[in-house]
Amino acid sequence: MKRVGLLTSGGDCQALNATMRGIAKALYNLYGDEVEIIGFEEGYRGLIYADYREMKREDFSGILTVGGTMLGTSRTPFKLIREPDENGLNKVEAMIHTYKKLKLDCLFVLGGNGSLKTANLLSEEGLNVIGLPKTIDNDLWGTDVTFGFQSAVNIATAAIDNIHTTAASHGRVFIVEVMGHKVGWLTLYAGIAGGADIILLPEIPYDLDNICAALAERGKAGKHFSIIAVAEGAISKEDAVLSKKELKKKKEKEKTYPSVAYELAAKIGERTGQEVRVTVPGHTQRGGAPTPYDRVLSTRLGAEAARLFDKGKFGLMVASKNNEIVSVPLKSIAGKLKTVDPKSEIIRAAKLTGISFGD
Ligand code: F6P
Repeated sequence: MKRVGLLTSGGDCQALNATMRGIAKALYNLYGDEVEIIGFEEGYRGLIYADYREMKREDFSGILTVGGTMLGTSRTPFKLIREPDENGLNKVEAMIHTYKKLKLDCLFVLGGNGSLKTANLLSEEGLNVIGLPKTIDNDLWGTDVTFGFQSAVNIATAAIDNIHTTAASHGRVFIVEVMGHKVGWLTLYAGIAGGADIILLPEIPYDLDNICAALAERGKAGKHFSIIAVAEGAISKEDAVLSKKELKKKKEKEKTYPSVAYELAAKIGERTGQEVRVTVPGHTQRGGAPTPYDRVLSTRLGAEAARLFDKGKFGLMVASKNNEIVSVPLKSIAGKLKTVDPKSEIIRAAKLTGISFGD
């Protein structure tokens, strides 16, 4: 009899259930009734505090199209993982204890950057761990694409699409703020797909003068509305050269805004006299059903994770490289961020088609 654990950790996204289904269906096909699946509640919290349930085959049926995660999730910051909890409990020891007490043969971790750092730590502590790349941010090193990303691109694109008609009717500047944490993948893809005129990414610091110049250019060309897709982590050229400490000090002195989109709206409005509006789709970008692309990707990643388990291969993350499903060592990806390369072909293509990056 084989016994494996399953957990979903960090911010949720579409296709978490689809991925768990991929793992489970493949395991049941490989082992029949000779495999037991333990689902940990709310990510690492469930592993730390032994909060789990025995999953049944039926749990994995009818969930391919269902967003969110049936196990629940939570954020367990990696930087605090070695710190005792409020009752003095050693979290790492507690996780190892739960794994051993349950006599698990493997732990499957569906997570993003922080969660996979913890997965790597557990692997280094001697547990059999397999990671699966989850996040709408697409910022995981070692994989071309993460599950959740394409579904979020669809939603962010729809937000920009829907802004187009109202922006055109009123002749306004619209700023759509897109998620993505410290990277610009989601904004870049949704911005191009939605026909944004200006795209602002953390990887390409912007200059307000250049943004205003791009807006003026559009005006001169007879276009009386503009759409700016801004990543939540976008930063100005002057702020980008400051250290974290200097930036914090500067921000304390300046007028504060709820987010970068609101700051830009105020500054662009002031400079250009144009009417500027802000739209923030926020967590809707993580919600709803996964796209067919993500359902296929998740099924492939899940099945590959089960296959690796069957082969006794651990300490790995399943990944997509050049449209092939492969695996990479967890230690080679843990803690590394995949950012947008400002010199890449996609940026060149976007610029060639007239999109301004405010740089
Ligand atoms: O990592 C996914 C993500 O949605 C980021 O794009 C965003 O910065 C963050 O999570 C939001 O976190 P929370 O759901 O904790 O507000």
